[in-house]
Amino acid sequence: MGYLLEMKKITKKFPGVTALKDIDFQLRPGEVHVLLGENGAGKSTLVKILSGVYEPTEGTIVINGKEYAKLTPKESIENKISIIYQEISLIDELSIGENIYVGKLPTKKLFNMTVVDYKQVEKNTRELLKKVGLNKEPSVLAKELSISEKQQVEIAKALSYNAKVIIMDEPTSSLTIEETKKLFEIIKQLKNEDVGIIYISHKLNEIKEIGDRVTVLKDGTYVGTRDVRDVEIEELVTMMVGRELKSKYMNVGHRQKGTKEVVFKVSNLTRADKRVRNVSFEVYKGEILGFAGLIGSGRTELMNAIFGADKIDSGEIRLFGEQLAIKSPYQAIKKGMALITENRRETGFFPNFEIWKNVSIEPLIKESKLGGIWGLLNRSKERDYAKKQKDLLNIKCSSIDQNITELSGGNQQKVIVGKWLAAESKLIIFDEPTKGIDIGAKSEIYNIMRELSDNGKAVIMVSSELPELLAVCDRIAVFREGELRTILTSDEATEEKILLAATSAK
Ligand SMILES: Nc1ncnc2c1ncn2[C@@H]1O[C@H](COP(=O)(O)OP(=O)(O)OP(=O)(O)O)[C@@H](O)[C@H]1O
Ligand SMILES: [Mg+2]
Repeated sequence: MGYLLEMKKITKKFPGVTALKDIDFQLRPGEVHVLLGENGAGKSTLVKILSGVYEPTEGTIVINGKEYAKLTPKESIENKISIIYQEISLIDELSIGENIYVGKLPTKKLFNMTVVDYKQVEKNTRELLKKVGLNKEPSVLAKELSISEKQQVEIAKALSYNAKVIIMDEPTSSLTIEETKKLFEIIKQLKNEDVGIIYISHKLNEIKEIGDRVTVLKDGTYVGTRDVRDVEIEELVTMMVGRELKSKYMNVGHRQKGTKEVVFKVSNLTRADKRVRNVSFEVYKGEILGFAGLIGSGRTELMNAIFGADKIDSGEIRLFGEQLAIKSPYQAIKKGMALITENRRETGFFPNFEIWKNVSIEPLIKESKLGGIWGLLNRSKERDYAKKQKDLLNIKCSSIDQNITELSGGNQQKVIVGKWLAAESKLIIFDEPTKGIDIGAKSEIYNIMRELSDNGKAVIMVSSELPELLAVCDRIAVFREGELRTILTSDEATEEKILLAATSAK
């Protein structure tokens, strides 16, 4: 059986780091080939070489018997390779149809002039949307779509090129269980049409579900390729981290003693836009309180309201007994709150700062007399912070002076976590903190959360991954449609009970 494409002895060097060394990789028609590896292992770099974003330093790419020393973006498309990036790249102000056909809008002759054939765009778009199961008008603007809908448009776009190779870089990291199922259906359909799929994910259970083969990278080197049916997840994890991990979530351990000392209390909180209504809960000293619920159920909206990012209509918030009237995130930080968010692009970091500045911004907001990040800085102290966090979280970078945008997705997320931890806050809200983070670093973050909680801080964790909530939290609050439905203790909570409370109206 021939390969759709083959990569031979690919090496990619960036200044100060060898991202890939002598990598061999092949893709067969109709297979899902999973790329696995820790944050910074080189997965995104490898696929960006196929999409023409990066030139390999050494090595060749073979497609249809032809050898390339590099692919330009144009050659990549001509060879029917299509990529869906970690960060969705649709243009918000364009319609679905325009997004799919951007750069290749069909034209027609009208009174001797060449004009865009919008009828054709609409017709083709309709067919493509049907294929990926998205029930929307082609004229709807991209900004009106949810993340999963945007992703379906990206896939439709790939199909519009008749792609033979589709690359998906962490496609399910922002999808609900239902949406993930839908994506897997589309993937199966694509396989039947002999499309080859390169699939990157940190969700190990997905490998068994849709993978045919899996290739493991570690620190830019090739570890091995296995048939999915012949390999256990444990073996893959060992290949990935280079040592055995005891259990998926390690032993974080639940709270030792059941004190009911309240460190954080929210009473009858309702948002101005009513997207969260009448929520009351307490966080006890020494516990981690989890928040479960479907995406869109209001958990993030609640956290944003607590943090002063969105307006509150009514309700009371008390941190260590002190009643707070927070009107902005800036005030929240001043009062000792931290919000580690899932959305690193929009709210998590300042993209053009070097790592050390990113790691140490928040304590400065608190300490600086000028009040802003441009206030007087104590640089050497800051750099010490940054170095400490780099080691603690095993952030992979060439130095703390590197720009954060050059880091791998997961390592960027670690910088965000490190940044907020340096703030030494009294209440720390982790909102999907481990999204895109590899298995080893995940357990580091859980341990840090436990330690913060043991040291008397109020710790909250929002997560869409139930196994993670069950392993880490002492109690789990379940959200549905903007309201808090129930709070389960770790003894009584199960995946089934949480799902039931999150989905069924009683
Ligand atoms: N443009 C760049 N400039 C410098 N270094 C880079 C650049 N892009 C990636 N790197 C480095 O190359 C290495 C591999 O990064 P890559 O993004 O491929 O990792 P990854 O396996 O996709 O990780 P993750 O799971 O975190 O997304 C990292 O050390 C990263 O910092
Ligand atoms: Mg990546």
